Amino acid sequence: SQTVRRDEDGVLTVGGIPATRLAEEFGTPAYVLDEDDFRARARAWRTAFGSGADVFYAGKAFLSRAVVRWLHEEGLNLDVCSGGELATALSAGMPAERIAFHGNNKSPEEIRRAVAAGVGRIVLDSFQEIVRVAHIAQELGTRQRVQIRVTVGVEAHTHEFIATAHEDQKFGIPLAGGQAAEAVRRALKLDGLELIGLHSHIGSQIFDMSGFEVAAHRVVGLLKDIRDEHGVELPEIDLGGGLGIAYTSGDDPREPHEIAKALTEIVGRECEAARLTTPRISVEPGRAIVGPTAFTLYEVGTVKPLEGLRTYVSVDGGMSDNIRTALYDAEYSVALVSRTSEAEPMLSRVVGKHCESGDIVVRDTFLPADLAPGDLIAVPATGAYCRSMASNYNHVLRPPVVAVRDGEARVIVRRETEEDLLRLDVG
Ligand code: LLP
Repeated sequence: SQTVRRDEDGVLTVGGIPATRLAEEFGTPAYVLDEDDFRARARAWRTAFGSGADVFYAGKAFLSRAVVRWLHEEGLNLDVCSGGELATALSAGMPAERIAFHGNNKSPEEIRRAVAAGVGRIVLDSFQEIVRVAHIAQELGTRQRVQIRVTVGVEAHTHEFIATAHEDQKFGIPLAGGQAAEAVRRALKLDGLELIGLHSHIGSQIFDMSGFEVAAHRVVGLLKDIRDEHGVELPEIDLGGGLGIAYTSGDDPREPHEIAKALTEIVGRECEAARLTTPRISVEPGRAIVGPTAFTLYEVGTVKPLEGLRTYVSVDGGMSDNIRTALYDAEYSVALVSRTSEAEPMLSRVVGKHCESGDIVVRDTFLPADLAPGDLIAVPATGAYCRSMASNYNHVLRPPVVAVRDGEARVIVRRETEEDLLRLDVG
């Protein structure tokens, strides 16, 4: 990010604060988040789409009350996918009408809370949910604005576990076999629902825009069928999130304005061809906003050279603060940040402290051969899906999130304590 630099001693500084000072003050491991960078990315997405579209930050990537306030101030909306995320959003003052509620298995209780709060939209994910939400809205004496999530049969070029638009998976209602058209038919009949549009999300960590092109083509195709059958033009279309970020030097992400231009053009072109009024577009980037804004700061512990193989560098966290390497074979980079070193590079694997051999943070990397216990290393691009997927495996305590801005650092999510752990254990 803009505000991450090295000073003369080779110490990494973020927002004007040396990593060494952050480690002293807040301990390690810690997620260090650059607030200016977060705000700049959020703003870039909003301005790229202008006033003709809406940007919903996907809270699953990382959510806290400070983040909700930043989003609010920067004019973004918020996508939540559980009662917990909804509660966080509301408690930090996000206006309910700027919240979208997602999920393939929202509980009746979660739906009731969302409807009662007045969320701007609920994204319907199944035939059963269409009826469920309509019922609850009627019970509460209201009409809920909804979109229907359709699966368009696009498999984005990404890791299999995180691709969500090919047919054989749990999300959405397939376009195939007229299922989505049938869902629309039912939703339009129910008094408790105001169907405002269609939703498509094709996957995550995507660089290639062609998946979005196919998705938009198919979604607009359904909009046209709806117009022909029912005489209504649905006013909104959401193309989901999924835009990739750079984890290693090989990745080449698109800028928000390029993405906005591409998506707006695709939808405009498709609608013109179908002689439809262009609907209002929305998108749901999570990773692309928060991913690059944070790094994880670790202290090096045991350094174990294995003759003829590599050196295992153990850090004071691991798969409990970053499961992505173990789960998706995700690639990260890492650097020594507490000093410079002239030592030879050594082939290394950065591992955690968990009782599991798959507990790897960075599979293959080079670190200086004089690396020693007490050195600080940092893994960049851990803002998305690291704290939000953190666990207590081995009763390891989840790290804090420290936000840095204008030379000041403050904890926005505090470090877990043993008391926190024991408080839940009531046996
Ligand atoms: N909208 C919907 C409906 C989604 O399901 C997702 C992500 C997003 C937006 C945001 O996608 P993003 O822009 O962040 O790629 N844990 C995985 C990623 C799972 C993504 C799930 N859905 C990972 O660590 O890579």
